[in-house]
Amino acid sequence: MKVIHVLFRSSIGKKFTMAVSGFILFGFVIGHLSGNLQIFAHPDKINAYAHFIESLGPALWGIRLFLLTTLVVHVWVAAQLTIENKRARQKNYDKQVTLRATLASRYMRVSGVIVLAFIIYHLLHFTVRVTHGTEAYPTTILADGTKVRDVHSMIVLGFKSPYIAIFYLLSVGLLSWHLAHGLVSMFQSVGLRTRAWSHVLERITVVLSVSYFLGNALIVVAAMSGKVRIQNPSVVGFTCRDTCEICGLRNAEAIVENADAVEDNQS
Ligand code: HEM
Repeated sequence: MKVIHVLFRSSIGKKFTMAVSGFILFGFVIGHLSGNLQIFAHPDKINAYAHFIESLGPALWGIRLFLLTTLVVHVWVAAQLTIENKRARQKNYDKQVTLRATLASRYMRVSGVIVLAFIIYHLLHFTVRVTHGTEAYPTTILADGTKVRDVHSMIVLGFKSPYIAIFYLLSVGLLSWHLAHGLVSMFQSVGLRTRAWSHVLERITVVLSVSYFLGNALIVVAAMSGKVRIQNPSVVGFTCRDTCEICGLRNAEAIVENADAVEDNQS
C-alpha cells in the first residue's frame, strides 16, 4: 500500500512511474516495428508471425491487458504531473528555464494526445478491423496449408489511401519525437542522466527515434508506392508477375488453382 502511495502520490514516485511505464511502451513499439518490418520478406513470414501471436490465446489477452494498463497509468500520471507543473509555474523560477521546460512539456502533451488518437484509430483499423470494408481484411493459406489472416495484404490495402498514409506518417513522426524526449526524461527521472554523458544520451535518443520513424515510414511508403505489392491472388489489386513469389507458378490462374487444391486437401 505504501509503495502504491509513493509511486502515485509523490512527485518523484510519479516521475519514476512515468519512466517505467514509458520504458515498457517503448519496448512494445520497438518489438512491434521489428515484427512489421517482416512485410519486406515473403508474405508467409509476417502472416505466420501474426498467426503465431493470435494463437497465444489467453496469454495474448494477458499481454494486451498489461499493455493497456501500462498505457492508462502512463497517460494518467502524465496528466497529474501536468497539473502539478502548472501549479509550480505560478511560483517564480528562473524565467528562461521555465519557458523552455514549459514548451517541451507542452509538445509532449500535444504529441501524446495525437498519438493516443492514432492508437485508437489503429486498433479499430487492424485489430478490431472495422475502418475498412471486409475486402480489406482477406485470408490466405500458408505453405503448410494453414488458413490465416493475410496481414501482409491488410497492410498494403490499409495504406492505399494517401490520407491514411499521411495520418500514419504524421503520427509515427510525433511518436518518434515523443520517444526522443521521453527517453531523456526517463534517464533523468531514474537519476541516470549525469552531466558527463547527457550529451551522448541525447544523441543516442535522436538516432533511436529517427531510426524508429524511418522504419515505420519505410513500411507506409513502400505499401503506398507499390514497392510492396499484394501477392494474394484472391485480393482485388493483385497483379501477377512473370516470376511470382507466391509459389513459383507463372500465372494467377495457376496460383488460384494451387490455393484451391490446398484448401481441398485440408477439407
Ligand atoms: C507503419 C506503422 C504500423 C503498422 C504497419 C502497424 C501494423 C499493425 C498490424 C497489422 C496490427 C494487427 C496485427 C494482427 O492483428 O495480427 C497492429 C496491431 C497493433 N499496433 Fe500497429 N502498426 C504500426 C504502427 C503502430 C504504432 C506506432 C503503434 C503504437 C503507438 C502501434 C500499436 C499497435 C497495437 C497496440 C496493436 C494491437 C496489438 C494486439 O493487441 O493485437 N502500431 N499493427
